[in-house]
Amino acid sequence: MERVYITGSKGMLGRALAPLFADECEVLATDLPESDIRDRKLIEEEIRDFKPDQVIHLASLTDVDRCQLEPEAARETNALGTRNVALACRKTGAAMTYLSTGMIYNGRKVEPYVESDPPDPINVYGRSKYEGEKAVRELLDRYYIFNTCWLFGGGAEDKKFVARTLKQARDKTELKMVNDTFGSPTYTRDLARALRAVIGTSHYGRFFCVNKGCVNRFQIASEILRIAGIKNCRLIPVSSAEFPLPAPRPRMEALRNQNLEALGFDLMRGWKEALEDYITSTLL
Ligand SMILES: NC(=O)c1ccc[n+]([C@@H]2O[C@H](COP(=O)([O-])OP(=O)(O)OC[C@H]3O[C@@H](n4cnc5c(N)ncnc54)[C@H](OP(=O)(O)O)[C@@H]3O)[C@@H](O)[C@H]2O)c1
Repeated sequence: MERVYITGSKGMLGRALAPLFADECEVLATDLPESDIRDRKLIEEEIRDFKPDQVIHLASLTDVDRCQLEPEAARETNALGTRNVALACRKTGAAMTYLSTGMIYNGRKVEPYVESDPPDPINVYGRSKYEGEKAVRELLDRYYIFNTCWLFGGGAEDKKFVARTLKQARDKTELKMVNDTFGSPTYTRDLARALRAVIGTSHYGRFFCVNKGCVNRFQIASEILRIAGIKNCRLIPVSSAEFPLPAPRPRMEALRNQNLEALGFDLMRGWKEALEDYITSTLL
């Protein structure tokens, strides 16, 4: 039976992913406060003692604006913490999975990014995640790096864009939605299934993994309202300049799963179908 060690297991993706391995593998699902990836010695001991075949590293500071305001904290967790996990994998011979982001790009491309595009992050979060990618590639031969984008999921515990928009649209008659930044909305359940299919195979490398599409928040909100049958809330398209945030956002962070497609491993459906599935099965 394969042994699987997971960091950040209580996060949005971790809650969808851990159960998929639990059936067939011996899983050690870790998170703060007990297993802090910034503590190199502790992580090394935990991984050495558990002897995993696979280490799935999801732990991260994911609040992009907090990262911008606290760059040292972002670096400690996303860059150095990832390095600590990679070092422990190197010592024990475990294969490592790392989750990265479309925010490693400057966003100037007019169409979705593919794996061969050169990274050029424009904010602290993107830089710290890219540093993490470099550490994994430098220290290990057997790794899977998955770059993903605009995750949604979580059901009852969802406080992010989809659940928030649904709630606001029920309470208000008008909502402003940004229409000049683009991403690929991705359902954590679909992403978890895709990871489950690749991890443990000999197809090591770097893969973009998103639900198919390239859309802005206005388009996503329109679809949320359609799925929920909300008719008395008007959506107003606005520029991102109307909502200034500490961290600059790339105009484009949508991705295309080119490497998974080439392997015949692209299980990801379109974003609209995934969003409808999520909302109707868990939020309505
Ligand atoms: N969410 C997205 O839209 C998105 C997009 C692209 C890529 N990703 C990547 O996908 C991965 C999973 O994302 P997610 O949305 O599931 O993140 P999440 O919900 O924020 O979960 C991250 C988990 O990591 C934990 N954590 C933070 N610092 C830690 C530390 N020092 N040691 C151990 N655990 C720590 C967090 O604990 P606390 O909650 O207690 O801080 C949380 O449980 C991350 O690597 C993220 O960068 C996410």
